[in-house]
Amino acid sequence: MENENLTSTNLADEQEEILETSLRPKTLSEYIGQNKVKTSMKIYIEAAKKRKEPLDHCLFYGPPGLGKTTISGIIANEMGSKIKITSGPAIEKPGDLAGLLTSLEEFDVLFIDEIHRLSKTVEEILYPALEDYCLDITIGKGPEAKSIRLDLPKFTLIGATTKAGSLTTPLRDRFGIVERLELYSIEDLSTIVKRSSKILKVKIDKESCTEIARRSRGTPRIANRLLKRVRDFALVLGDGQINLQITKHALNQLEIDELGLDEIDRKMLNMMIVQYNRKTCWNRGISRITWRRNRYNRRCI
Ligand SMILES: Nc1ncnc2c1ncn2[C@@H]1O[C@H](COP(=O)(O)OP(=O)(O)OP(=O)(O)O)[C@@H](O)[C@H]1O
Ligand SMILES: [Mg+2]
Repeated sequence: MENENLTSTNLADEQEEILETSLRPKTLSEYIGQNKVKTSMKIYIEAAKKRKEPLDHCLFYGPPGLGKTTISGIIANEMGSKIKITSGPAIEKPGDLAGLLTSLEEFDVLFIDEIHRLSKTVEEILYPALEDYCLDITIGKGPEAKSIRLDLPKFTLIGATTKAGSLTTPLRDRFGIVERLELYSIEDLSTIVKRSSKILKVKIDKESCTEIARRSRGTPRIANRLLKRVRDFALVLGDGQINLQITKHALNQLEIDELGLDEIDRKMLNMMIVQYNRKTCWNRGISRITWRRNRYNRRCI
């Protein structure tokens, strides 16, 4: 029984993941909002193409769900390059990174998510790879050890992080392009909801797009998640089309209030106001609450 549950949860997770992938824009013109980043990236991409050089290494940072992974895929696509995707914690040993780097081809993009979680030893291997496109490897141990230098193809590293402050200075300084993704406006989120509903083949009116956008806390991932849940309510309680009444009902059922705050957010604010009696919250108090919030977010997203 437990196994069955496990399998169905995995299946649901997989389906959510497939759905999230299908909602990802593939080109810069499909990528909504973030105009400053988009304008800059268009220029950098065009310049790199004109020079017939790989794009400079890029770092994208900002809160979860704002489109860091999405824009990285778009950049590879716009450059006409292949992309290899990995993450900081997945690269455990220097050998893992060496394997990845040597499997790259000229102009490929290597995307490292959560790049702030790379270990120190792995990070040190990355420095010459980023600066001089080469890899220094030590073979053997002790006095017999030999160091050899391997040439790598010219590639682009794209790093993404929610914690830019945790990146070491030497690593941060090796990125030629550093862009911060901002929270989205209601108009942009509303356009994202409209676009996603077309992909999901569900009819939705303008007011409902705005209502979902308003309660999505500036985050496309949340907007898409709410749209999927509202779609379920519309299918079961209505005729499958999303209107304002069904949207409000669904969001109220999900306990997402007018400001996009959910139950945990309200508890958090309540704790700050009541328990701390509107006084300054001590760092430990806040970090304990936000730690719980992050853990909850990770489970939901
Ligand atoms: N600018 C955008 N236009 C349209 N959809 C977007 C945009 N940005 C993000 N999305 C949607 O939001 C979802 C989450 O985006 P993405 O996975 O790129 O966020 P992220 O910043 O990498 O998050 P995390 O920090 O958790 O890895 C994507 O599936 C995509 O459909
Ligand atoms: Mg991501």
